[in-house]
Amino acid sequence: MKIKIPGIMLCAVLAGSSLNGVYAQTKPVNTDAKISAIIKKLTLEEKIAMVHANGLFSSAGVKRLGIPNLVSDDGPLGVREEVKPGWGSANLKTDSATFFPNGSALAATWNPDLAYRYGHDMGEEARARNKQVMLAPAFNIARTPLCGRTYEYYSEDPFLNARLAVASVKGIQSQHVAACVKHYAVNNQEVERGRVNVEVDERALREIYLPAFKASITEGEAWTIMSAYNKLRGVYCSENDYLLNQILKGEWEFKGLVMSDWGGTHSTVAAANNGLDLEMGSGEKYDTYYFAKPLLDSVKAGKVSVKVIDEKVRRVLWVMYKTSLSSNQPKGSIATPEHGKTAYDIASESIVLLKNDKHLLPLNTSNIKSIAVIGDNATHTFHLGGFGAGVKAKYEINALAGLKNRLGGIVNIKFAQGYWGKYAEPSPANHNGDDFNKSDPALVDEAVAAAKSTDMAILFVGANRDYESEGRDRKDLSLPFGEQTLIDAVTAANPNTIVVVVGGAPYDIGEIKKNNHTIVWSWYNGSENGNALADVLTGKINPSGKLPFTFPASLSQSPAHALGAYPGQNLQVEYKEGILVGYRWFDTKKIEPLYCFGYGLSYTNYKYDDLHTDKTVYTADDNITASIEVKNAGKVNGKETVQLYVNKSGSKVERAEKELKAFKKVYVAAGQAVTIKLKIPVKNLAYFDDSTKKWIVEPGKYKLLAGTSSRDIKQTANITIN
Ligand code: BGC
Repeated sequence: MKIKIPGIMLCAVLAGSSLNGVYAQTKPVNTDAKISAIIKKLTLEEKIAMVHANGLFSSAGVKRLGIPNLVSDDGPLGVREEVKPGWGSANLKTDSATFFPNGSALAATWNPDLAYRYGHDMGEEARARNKQVMLAPAFNIARTPLCGRTYEYYSEDPFLNARLAVASVKGIQSQHVAACVKHYAVNNQEVERGRVNVEVDERALREIYLPAFKASITEGEAWTIMSAYNKLRGVYCSENDYLLNQILKGEWEFKGLVMSDWGGTHSTVAAANNGLDLEMGSGEKYDTYYFAKPLLDSVKAGKVSVKVIDEKVRRVLWVMYKTSLSSNQPKGSIATPEHGKTAYDIASESIVLLKNDKHLLPLNTSNIKSIAVIGDNATHTFHLGGFGAGVKAKYEINALAGLKNRLGGIVNIKFAQGYWGKYAEPSPANHNGDDFNKSDPALVDEAVAAAKSTDMAILFVGANRDYESEGRDRKDLSLPFGEQTLIDAVTAANPNTIVVVVGGAPYDIGEIKKNNHTIVWSWYNGSENGNALADVLTGKINPSGKLPFTFPASLSQSPAHALGAYPGQNLQVEYKEGILVGYRWFDTKKIEPLYCFGYGLSYTNYKYDDLHTDKTVYTADDNITASIEVKNAGKVNGKETVQLYVNKSGSKVERAEKELKAFKKVYVAAGQAVTIKLKIPVKNLAYFDDSTKKWIVEPGKYKLLAGTSSRDIKQTANITIN
C-alpha cells in the first residue's frame, strides 16, 4: 500500500532568532522543502528518537538542529496539570487551568460555536503551558450507556459527534496547537479495552463509528490522531493497516501524525509498516519501546525501510511546523475570565430540564424564604477524580456555592449532606461494592429534617468522577451511593422537592421520573458549574440543553445489551446491532425509552410551522435547503435546537427509522418567530454499500422530520431523489 503525503506547500514567514538554522528564515519558506532538508541532515538514530516517547508526554527533538521536543498534554476537560513520572502530581503552582464542561455536557449544548470556543480557549491555555499537542477532543460513539468514558465523549449520533468534533479541532488549532482526535477507532467500552477485539460490519463502521473521525480529518484538518487500545477485526488499532494506511492516510489523505495511546503499541515491524508514527506510553524505560532500539534494529535488518522512518519523521516535523516551529505564534493565556465565561456559557446551555410538571422552575424567589440544599453533589467538585485525565482547576464553583452566590441574602439556604459520594472499587472488603451503595440513615434523617423545615428542597444526586472513570465501565445503570432511599425520604418530607441529577452518561432514573415532578439533568460542568446551574434554576438562563444520548428505561432495552453483544466473550465483541445504535435502535424497533435522544424542555414552548424545501426533486449532487419557522409561544426568551431527521421508507437495504442530518440552535425572543434554514447535501443521505464498498444515494422518496427531539416530530416534508 502506497502512503502519500499530499504536497505540503505551506509558505510561512518565519521570523525570530536562529536555532541552528531551523527557523532562522525571515523570507517565505516552503515547509515541504524545509522538512526534506532537515530529514537529510538527520542520522538514523536521531530519526528513531523522534518517533517514540522520551517522557510521559513528550518525544525527542534534535538539539543540534534546534528541533524542540514535541510536547503533548491531556484534555479533554482542560489542560491537565504537570505530572511526575509515575503520574503523581508535580505539585507546581503554575499549572492551574480552566476546567471546561465534560464532553457529553458540550454535546448537550448542540452548539458547535461553543465547541469552537472550548477548543480555542483550551488551545490558548495549552499555548501558555507550552504544549504543542492537546490530546482532545475525544468522541467515541456511546454504544453502551455503561462505558466509563461516556462523560468524556460526545454522543450516540455520528452527525452530532462530527459537528462538535470539527468545531473543537478548529478551535484548538487556531492557537497553533495540534488537536489529537481520539481514540481511533471503535473504542466503545473500557472493559478489556487493551485486549478486546471488535468485530463490526463495514456499513456500521462507515456510517456510525468513523464519520466524526473522517470529518475531523477532512473538514477539521486535525493534525494528529490517537490510535485506540483495542483491536479491530483481529488487529490492534495501532498496527491496523486498514484503519491507518488505507482509510486514514489513503482515503482521507491525512497529512499529520498518528500516535499510539499510552502503552497501546504491541509490535515494532507491524506497527511501523502499518501506519503508526509515534509510540507513546507510561513506562520509563524509553529505549526499550517498540519504536526505540527494536525499531533501529529492524531498520538495520531490512524489516522496516528507511523510507518508512523518513515518512514518520516528516509527519512529526510537519506537526512541528504547524505548532512550535510555526510563524506568528499566539502567546496563550491561562484561566482568564474570558475562559471562565466560555466554561459558563457551555455549562448554562448544557443543562437539561427533564421534567417541570408543577412549574416549580424557574424558582419564584418572592414566595421562597428557605431552601434545603441536600446531597453530596451539591458540594462535590468534578475537575479531578477517577482514573485518567482531569484538570487542576484554578477554581470550581460547586452547586451550593452557586446557589449562595445567586440567592444568598434573599433566601435562607440550609445544607444537609444526605449521602457521601465515595466510590470504592468492588472488593471483598466492601462486600463487592455494596457498601458504598448503602444509604446512611443518620444522613437521611438529617436531610429529612432540613427538607421539613424549609419551603423547598433541592436535592443533588447522581454520580461523580470517581464513579464514572476511564479504565472501567459501570456495572449497571443504577444510581450509586444509596441515593434512591434519600430521594424517596426527602420527597415524602417536602412535596416541593426539585431533583438535580449530575452525571456524564445515562442512568436509570425511572423511579425519579415516576415519583418526582421536577427533574434537572446536569453534568461535570466545569469551573462555573454552580453559577450556571443556579442561573438555570432561577431563570436567568432559560434551559436549552438536549440529551445527546438515549436514556433507556432498562439496560436490556439498549441494543448492545438486548443482543447480548456487550462486553463480549473470550475477548471478542461483535457489534451485532450493526447500524442500529442509540435512537436508531429504539425508533426502528419501536421501543419506548425513558428519555429519548435530543430531549430537553424549556421555560417557554416553541411552535414549529411551515417546513418546506427549496425544491421537491433533487439529484445526487444537490443540496437540500429546508426552511422552518420557529415561534416562541411563551413568555420568556430562549434558545431552541431544531433537529432535522431523515426517513427513507421502502429502501432496499435496512434503514434506521430516522437519522439526524441537520440541526440548528437559535435564539427566539418571547412572542417572536424566526425562520431558519437547514442544509443537507444529498450525498449525506447515502448508505454505505458493503458489497461494492461505495456510498450509494438511493433514488426515491424521503421524508424530512423536524422535531424538538428525536420523538417529538413537529413537521414533515417529502422530497424525491432522482
Ligand atoms: C488514555 C488517553 C490519554 C492517555 C494519556 C490513556 O490511558 O486512553 O485518552 O490521552 O492515557 O494520559
